[in-house]
Order: sequence, then C-alpha cells, then structure tokens
Amino acid sequence: MTSPAEQLAAPAVLADPHPTLAALRASGPVQRVELRMGLPAWVVTRYEDVLAGFSDPRLSSDPHHAEGALAEAMRGDFLSRSMIGVDPPEHTRLRRLVSRAFTARRVEALRPRVQEITDALLDRITPLGRADLVADFALPLPVTVIGELLGVPETDRERFRLWTDEMLDRPFDVRSDLPRVEAARERMHGYLAELVASKRAAPGDDVLSALVEATDEGERLDEQELLAMTFLLLIAGYVTTVSLVGNGMLALLRAPDQRDRLRADPSLIPGAVEEFLRFDGPVNPGVTRYATADVEIGGVVIPRGEIVLLATAGADRDPDRFPDPDRLDVASTDAGHLAFGHGVHYCLGAPLARLEAQIAFTALLQRLPDLALAVPAEQLRWTGGGVLRGLRELPVTFTPAPPPGGRG
Ligand code: HEM
Repeated sequence: MTSPAEQLAAPAVLADPHPTLAALRASGPVQRVELRMGLPAWVVTRYEDVLAGFSDPRLSSDPHHAEGALAEAMRGDFLSRSMIGVDPPEHTRLRRLVSRAFTARRVEALRPRVQEITDALLDRITPLGRADLVADFALPLPVTVIGELLGVPETDRERFRLWTDEMLDRPFDVRSDLPRVEAARERMHGYLAELVASKRAAPGDDVLSALVEATDEGERLDEQELLAMTFLLLIAGYVTTVSLVGNGMLALLRAPDQRDRLRADPSLIPGAVEEFLRFDGPVNPGVTRYATADVEIGGVVIPRGEIVLLATAGADRDPDRFPDPDRLDVASTDAGHLAFGHGVHYCLGAPLARLEAQIAFTALLQRLPDLALAVPAEQLRWTGGGVLRGLRELPVTFTPAPPPGGRG
C-alpha cells in the first residue's frame, strides 16, 4: 500500500485530492512528498501551521533560494521575476505599481460590464438545453474581463489561452517535460513582448498601457519585470476564476439541498462563494515557498533550500478549524479560508474574483434553475499541473429557454 505522501504524486489524486490531504494532515504536521511535477517538497497541511507559514520570513517566495536540481527548473520560469516570485522590498515595489487598479472600489466599478458579459454568455447558452459550463461560460467570462482590463485585443485572447493551457493544463514532470513547457514559455514571452510594443506605440486606457508608462518614465519597472507582470496578471486573472466557478458549480450539483437553498435566497451568494473557495478552491494543494534557513514546523526540521508546500486546500478542510469540513454549507458565515493566501502575497485579484463569481452564480441559478450534470461525476476530467486544480469540462443539461430576442 502506498503512503499518503506517495499518493500526492499520483495522477488519480487530481480527481479527488481531499482524502489524501486529510490522510496527510492526520498523520502529522509536515511530510516529505513528491509533487505531481516530480519535485520533492515538504507539505504542511494543518490550518494553524499553514497560516503561520505565510507569515514566516524564513519561507521565501523567491525560487532563487531553492537548491539542487529543482532550482534550475523553478528559475527558468520568467514568472519568478514577477511579484509572486519575489520577497519584500522588491515585492512591495512591484505590487504597488498595480495595486490601485485592483482595489475593491475600482473593481466595483466593473460590475455593470461583468454583468453584461455574463448575460451575453448566458443568452447564448439558455436556448440550447445543454452546454459545457467550462468552455461556454466559466472560461470566457474571466478571460474577457481580464482581457478588457489589461487591454489585450480580443483577437489575441484565444492565443494566450492556448499557450497557458500548454503550460498549466497537464501535470508536468521536471524530469521529462521541461522542453515542452519551455517552448510554450518562449512563445508566450514573444507574444507578450509584441503586446507591450503595441501598447508603447499606441497606448490605451488600460492597465497594461499604464504599466508601460511606468516602465518608460520612472524606471520603476524594467522590461523583464514588465513582461513578467503582464504574464502574471493575465494568467492569475482568469485561470483560477474558471475553477472557482466550475468547482463551485459542481459542488452545488452534488449537493442539491444546498443548491435549492441558494437559489431560494440569493442574499446567501457572497457567503456561498467564500464557502466554494474553502470547500474546493482553485489553488490545490497550495502555494510554494523556499526555506532560506532550517525551519522547524511541528517538530520537523525542513532543511534550507528545500521547497515547502503550504497546502491551503488541506488547511481549509482542517477539522480543528472548520467543524464538519467535508460538508458544503452555503449558509456558512465563516470566511476564514486560506484560498486567497495570507500576508503580503494575499491575492491581489480577490475583489475581482469575488465580483465575477458572485455575478456568475447569481445569474446561473436564476437562468438555469434545473441545471443537472450530463455525465456521472466520476467521469469528469480534471486539469492541473502543480498547484492549481480545476475541471477540464463541466457538461450540463437544463430545460431550454427561448432565445432572448423571443422573450417578449
Ligand atoms: C478564485 C480566484 C483566485 C484564487 C483562488 C487566487 C488565489 C491566489 C493565491 C492563493 C495567491 C497567493 C500566492 C502566494 O502566496 O504565493 C494569489 C496571488 C495573486 N493573485 Fe490570485 N487568485 C484568484 C484570482 C485572481 C485574479 C482574478 C487576479 C487578477 C489579476 C489575481 C491576481 C493575483 C496576483 C497578481 C497575485 C500575486 C500577489 C502577490 O504576490 O503579492 N488572482 N492568488
């Protein structure tokens, strides 16, 4: 029999990682595991330890602190020049450059447009009687929103989405898959350089043009940092949100009493979105850090230079923090989950993700009230490479409604 630690690397775990995370959590605070990427890491699964880990300055976000074979693999990633891959003070400087575009107030101003995009996508789906909620809804919604916010031309969005898929879609093994992933990174790098050049030539009223200006005028951002920032915002701006809507809707479809309750009382939606994040959030198993010193957690010493995986997905189902953690409760008022992280790297896009998900769930429940899975849940296929997890597709059926033009 394989141990829970060995199981974490098994592809089958992607379909349902929670029992494995529970077994890891039950067997001790920290275990040495092999990740799906083929990298060794120390995984931390208890809520209190994960929370403390986010605030421990010895746990760096910078892959340059990794040692050995894995260092090479992690450093090649040009994301490591973005805010998510650096520590203060560089982190503070980079994050400040864009933080104003993502405040709760600025994001709230996007509400009418997000509603419009949501309605238009549903107008297309409702007459059909069946749909793939990932491809037809959960994906195009955040891709359109972040594309418009950053100023990515509509005709380019499909291209960057395909390259992202290549980089994130399949579990990649650092022992064999690096050339493929690096080729995808190269293409993405080339595309981003073109995109930045076009903003320089013809600036628009968008976040990317503002960043180009910051680069050119104040030397607050160099060219590589600018590309890394653009890449991070584009990717982080949609990949996770797709899974929040997909995983959350699947959780509802598997708990019809919860779906009925939510449909009957839409005032529960904001709290339900927090519960979807806790119950089956897009970041799974969690976020990576690098030990800059020997670090003791729960009696285990993690050696300097090794990867630490703060398993937020394990923490968010810790029975010592959340009573009855494996049950979805849309009326929960406990928003203490760690699905957006914690501390200085706390998700910059959290207000945007919340807005999109709240609008999406409200509209889906209203307009597709008898939504049902079109295949048995066990047949659903999942994507994820290392730290993210989501549905590849979510086939559903429902009673068709007349096209919007015919409504009256
Ligand atoms: C449900 C959706 C989302 C989830 C679950 C999520 C989750 C996370 C988590 C866990 C982190 C912390 C990473 C760490 O500590 O290493 C993070 C950081 C980040 N997220 Fe999100 N995210 C979501 C949506 C978004 C959106 C819509 C954006 C839009 C731009 C975004 C942009 C970012 C950025 C820029 C960072 C890096 C922040 C920093 O390093 O200071 N995220 N996100």
